[in-house]
Order: sequence, then C-alpha cells, then structure tokens
Amino acid sequence: MKAIEIRNKYLNFFKEHGHKVIPSAPLIPENDPSVLFTTAGMQPLVPYLLGEKHPEGTRLTDYQKCLRTNDIDEVGDNRHLTYFEMLGNWSLGDYFKDEAIAMSYEFLTKELGIDPNLLSVTCFAGDSDAPKDTVAANAWKKAGIPEERIYFYGKDNNWWIAGEEGPCGPDTEMFLDTGKPACSEKCGPDCNCGKYVEIWNNVFMEYYKAKDGTISKLKQQNVDTGLGLERMAMLLQGKETPFDTELFLPVMEELEKLAKVENIESRRIVAEHLRSSIMVISDGGKPSNIDRGYVLRKLLRRMTRHLNKLQINLDELGNLIELYVQTLKELYPDLEKNKEMIKQTIIAEKDKFMKTLAHGEKEFEKVAAKAKQENKKVIDGYNIFKLYETYGFPPEITADLAKEQGFEIDLSSFDKLFKEHQEKSRQGSEQKFKGGLAEQNEQTTKYHTATHLLHKALQIVLGEHAKQNGSNITIERLRFDFTHPEKMTPEQVKQVEDIVNEQIQNDLLVTCEEMTLEEAKAAGATGLFENKYGEKVKVYTIGNFSKEICGGPHVTHTGELGHFKIKKEESSSAGVRRIKAILE
Ligand code: ALA
Repeated sequence: MKAIEIRNKYLNFFKEHGHKVIPSAPLIPENDPSVLFTTAGMQPLVPYLLGEKHPEGTRLTDYQKCLRTNDIDEVGDNRHLTYFEMLGNWSLGDYFKDEAIAMSYEFLTKELGIDPNLLSVTCFAGDSDAPKDTVAANAWKKAGIPEERIYFYGKDNNWWIAGEEGPCGPDTEMFLDTGKPACSEKCGPDCNCGKYVEIWNNVFMEYYKAKDGTISKLKQQNVDTGLGLERMAMLLQGKETPFDTELFLPVMEELEKLAKVENIESRRIVAEHLRSSIMVISDGGKPSNIDRGYVLRKLLRRMTRHLNKLQINLDELGNLIELYVQTLKELYPDLEKNKEMIKQTIIAEKDKFMKTLAHGEKEFEKVAAKAKQENKKVIDGYNIFKLYETYGFPPEITADLAKEQGFEIDLSSFDKLFKEHQEKSRQGSEQKFKGGLAEQNEQTTKYHTATHLLHKALQIVLGEHAKQNGSNITIERLRFDFTHPEKMTPEQVKQVEDIVNEQIQNDLLVTCEEMTLEEAKAAGATGLFENKYGEKVKVYTIGNFSKEICGGPHVTHTGELGHFKIKKEESSSAGVRRIKAILE
C-alpha cells in the first residue's frame, strides 16, 4: 500500500466517522515565534484542545507536515527521520477512550488489513496525577486484544505532552510485532530491540500541565492521535527501512548510481536531509544563522558534506531536487509550484557552504602551522570550537584534516564548549518561548490589524499582484512579505504609509463573520494561504477598506492603532519584498 493510499484511507475512514477533514498547517507556524517548527498534528490545535470552539466542529482529522530535529544526529541509521507526516484525528470534548480505541482497532485491522494477532498495546500504569487506565485497557479487550498483549507503563512511556507545558494526558500506544525473536524474557513494547514497532498513539488529553509542574483537569476531555505515515508505509510494504519505500527509493537509487563510493549511511543522510529541506523551503523557510533558518542551514550543510563524501558532483543537486519533486508531488502538490524557488535556495546555500569549507580549510592550516611550531601533537577543543563557531566548520571535518596531518584532536573539550554554547542558546530560546506566549496581547493584536491595512494599501499603490507571502508579528513590530518584483520607491513607501494612517484616522469599525470559504470568496475577501484553512473561515472586515480571511484577533476600531511607520523595505527573496513597520 503506497503512502498516498494510506493517507486517503485514513482521512476517508474518519470522515465516515463524522470527522471534518482540515488542511495541514504549514511546517513553519505563522505568527507563532514560540516554536521553531510544527512537530505534531495537535500543535496548531492547542487553543481548541483548551476549549476554544473550532469552526469545523468537535471531530477533526488531517495529515500534518512535521519536523523534529532532536534526533538529527541519528539520521543515517535504519529508522530516524527529521521530516515526517503525521496522520491524526481529534475529539475536542466529543468522544473519549472507548470510541477512539474502537476506531483505531477497526482502522488498523479492517482498513489496513493488519493481522490483529500482531498487535500489542500499552496503557498508563497510573500515579499520583492520574489513575491506572483500566478504561483504555477494557476498551482494547472489548475490541479484541487479549490481556497478555496489553501492557501497563508509567509516565516515561505512556504520558504525552508537547514540551514542558500545555495540554497532556495518559496515552495508549499501538505496536506491531515484526516477528523478530524476543531479545529476552522481559522483551515487550518498551524494548528497543526492534521486535515491536510503535505505529499509533492515542492521547487522552484531559489534563493541563502548568509551568510550575502542577497538573489540573481541562474543561473538556479530548483525544489527540498521531500515526506516522512513513513508518506505516514501510511496515505495510514489508520493507526494512523507510528509505526502501516509494517515498525515498528513487532518490536512494539515483544516489547509488551517482556515488563513486558506497556508503549507505551517507546516502540516507543526503536523501533524508534533502527531503526535509525541500519541505521546509516549500513552506517558506530560508537558511540563516538563527532559529529556524539555522536548522535548515544545518540540514543543508550536512547534506552537502555527505554528497561530497559520496564523491557526487554537486552540480547534480538540481536534478536530485527535480527527482524528489516528481517523487513527492502526488502527496504535496505545492512542490511543483515552488520547485524553482527550492532549487535556487538549496543551490545558493550549497555554494555558500563550499566557500565556507574553503575558508575553514585555510583557517585550519593556520591553526595546524601554529601547533607544529609549538610542537603540539593535539588540536585543542578551543580551536575546533572556534573553527566551528566562526567559520561554520564542522568538527568532523576538522577531525579528518587533523588526522591527515598526523594530529590528534581533543573532541571531548570541544564537546564541553559546544554543550555550554548549546545551553546558552537553549536559555535563549526558552526566553523566546516565554516571550512568544506573552506576546499574544494588545500590542500584537494591533499589529494584526495594521497588517491588514498595510496589505490593502500595498495593493492600491503597487497593484493587485502585491499579495501576502508571509507575516510575522512581535510586540515590537510587524513584518510583512509580499510579492513584488522590485524595490519600492520612497514615494511609494510614503503613499502606503499615508493610506494606512488615513484609515487609522478614519477610525474604521473592525467586524468578524464566520462563513464558508466559498461565501468568503464571493464576498470579495482576500484569501490568504487558502489551502491552509478549513471550509469554515473567519472573515475580518475593516470599514469599506479591507476584507480578509484571517484567524484574528483584531482590534475593534482602527483608531486604536496609533501612528503607522514603515522602518524598512528590503528584498526577502527573489520576487518577494519585506516590510518592517511599527506603530508609534
Ligand atoms: N500528539 C501525539 C504524538 O505526537 C499524538 O504522538
């Protein structure tokens, strides 16, 4: 069964069970600086899990593009992936354990045809926060799983939360027995020997964990589930690794043809990181030195280095991207549309990295010469770290070069410096996370409304083609990307500012209506990122001036905004301009 069939079966099954199919949110969460990437299907749904009403109702299903990079260094083995697709279904205060489990069982055994004898499940063993989950266990028994294949584990295995704070609860996980012999008498679903493979997780989200660690009950009992598409495709196709499925195979085979040396690990790293990079860039990611951009840069650099290691001519990159787009476009039709932009971004980053490599090698020579002069036999951690931090020169490469010249290298003191550095940036991002949550306030609300005024003003001054390409709001400023081929003239910038300020002075009323996407279009609303929205959407109208599909929130009168000022107009990427503006 191909991945696309599994996805379609999943969405259809839950549709038949009363769920609305909602679109995948972008991999890069919009207007949400608190997380780098979408890492689970539930993430865009947090407000609804906490009790806000979802326009599509209380039963939802979707496929969600996800990126998790905590195990990036493990990629290259037979299972780890950074990008993956998560199929999910949600009950927002609707059904709970019995129905969720009955549906999971039916889907696995009837729709996917999995032999029920190969299924094992795990449930929460209970502790002071929540009782032993006998309700879930009984539901499994009722469905047909015998008692000996129902396991109970503690929080380490059977409790799910995204991060440190938020909606959470006990979960029940489903495992497929691969038929491998048990590694010991104790071997069970919690064992990593490879006998049991986790295929699906149902989280019963009825709790909330606060920052101080206290757990309280949510207003409603939710279900949040996640089934990894790549893994399921691998298992149903009887393959050993996801790289042997149709999602990766054409690229893996092409890499084998092009490589002058055989190295399966490097081929997997190239195939995996290239796919993740393509998905991130297609959703608007750009390589940079911070946050999201840095994750992307790291993926691309590792990918380039392993292409080098395989002795593949780097000019092949364009063709490899093309091959990937053809391989994945049935699942992600946007890739075809974005492919030139994807190619440009990846090739430009590769060129830059090759320069870094050349530059770093020169610096290494200096370090090595000095070490020789001083009769040192070891390249110390400080120098490895400096090469890494200043020139982006990966320690593995430093290690290779050092070895070639007869040096040892002190990787453990490098690791120490690196950990200190990581700790600092972790503290930095925690700070950011706090900021992210605090930032949903009056000021960001004003910036949301100012963004709509700006969008419309740009269309008036520059023309209809000036469409939103991205938006990011903090308490200090708005940032708005839009399609326009050239730099705006100072006059145009002034005109846009004047129009926005005029509408602020007019103190226009801001109203919100819920309607279907079709009604919104008929009403002349600007449909931003259309495919992101479900069928029912919110439309914000600002006087007679602007009408946009948007999740909000917004101010009630434009008079609240103050004075609007454009601080910067610059290029964002080919054909896309970026404005940073403030309210004074
Ligand atoms: N949110 C749950 C997970 O990611 C379903 O496993």
